[in-house]
Order: sequence, then structure tokens, then C-alpha cells
Amino acid sequence: MTLRINDTAPNFTAQTTEGTIDFHDWIGDGWAILFSHPKDFTPVCTTELGTVASLKPEFERRGCKVLGISVDGVSDHREWSKDIESSQGHALNYPLIGDPELEVVKLYDMLPADEGDTAEGRTPMDNATARSVFVVGPDKKIKATLTYPMSTGRNFAEILRLVDSCQLTAAEQVATPANWEDGDDVIILPAVSDEVAREKYPEGWQQPLPYMRIVPQPK
Ligand code: BEZ
Repeated sequence: MTLRINDTAPNFTAQTTEGTIDFHDWIGDGWAILFSHPKDFTPVCTTELGTVASLKPEFERRGCKVLGISVDGVSDHREWSKDIESSQGHALNYPLIGDPELEVVKLYDMLPADEGDTAEGRTPMDNATARSVFVVGPDKKIKATLTYPMSTGRNFAEILRLVDSCQLTAAEQVATPANWEDGDDVIILPAVSDEVAREKYPEGWQQPLPYMRIVPQPK
């Protein structure tokens, strides 16, 4: 199943390093990111999981929970977490799903190769996931997705920036321009009429093009 922006994030129940969770219940009224890892005990993944642990306060500040997934079992994750702490200086401080039956990774289409109908001909690397990220809003809708190849570690500062942008759009009906950073000017969504925009921005906006209305980032 191909998941797209604005689809409902499929719900699931899974074993994690912090016990069994129901995804939608676990998200609650806040935001969440679900991010996949190819395999336990691999170097790039180790750096990613440690980095996310170090950034947990930043995700919390945004009301955004983090949930990792790797296709190995939870007992492997617990062993691996010792390596993450010793090499990255940060212990896992968020749940990591164990998915040895590939149930969640198939539900979220995180495998790089076609599933096929049988295991025949599949290599261990076919069963490893790509580095997928799903940003999910309080309405349980997918707000953003990205997929990196196994060989490229993700930039989690960019993922925080993405969460900031999605939250700003949801709260203020604005879009963020190229290379936007928190505090920069933003763009009134094209779907908002001038009449409605004037109520929110009585002092007006910059309009370098007929279809581009720029305002300071709402506080
Ligand atoms: C890694 O995490 O280092 C990795 C995993 C699978 C393929 C390539 C790299």
C-alpha cells in the first residue's frame, strides 16, 4: 500500500523496548514521528538512534513523540542499545519497535524491494528497511514522509525543521519557503483568500508576485 500525505496513518499494535503499544493511542493528542532502520547492530543506524536520543528534548518541546522501528526483535534492540549508549553517549530514551515478522514495515511500505509472495529469492538486505520517516499529526493523518537509502544517515535537524513547518501550517495556515528556519518570514497559504488574510494580518503583507503573500512568522 502506498501511503500519501493526508492519508490516515495505519494503526497497529507492536512490541517495543518500552512494552506493547497501540500506535494511535500512543500518539494521543500530540504529534509523532515513526522512523525505520535497516537493521540492528549496523553503524549508520547506531549513529541515528543516538542522535535522536540526544534530540529528544527538542522533539518534546514540539509535543512530538518519537518511535523507531527495526526489523529485529526487541531482545536484540535491548542488546544493541548498550552499543548505542557506549558509542554515541546517549542511551535509547524512546521506544523502538521489534518487527521480526515485518508486519509494520510492510504496512508502511518501508521495504526497499518488492515484497513478493514468498521468501524465496529474498536476501537479508531485501528484508532490511529503507530509512523512512513518517510525520503524523494529532488527527492521525500523515503530514510528511521521506525516504533515504540505507547508506545515507538522516539529518534530524532537518526533521525537526520539517515538524516545525508542519505544525506552523496546521496552526496558522501558512507555508514555509525554501531553506526557512524558525523565525524567518512565511507565506500565507494560497487557499486563504485576501479577505480572510486581512483579518489576521490587518497591516498587510509583502507581495512581490500576485500569488506570493509574505508575512512575519506568527508567534
Ligand atoms: C548502517 O546502518 O550502517 C547500514 C545498514 C544497512 C546498509 C548499509 C548501512
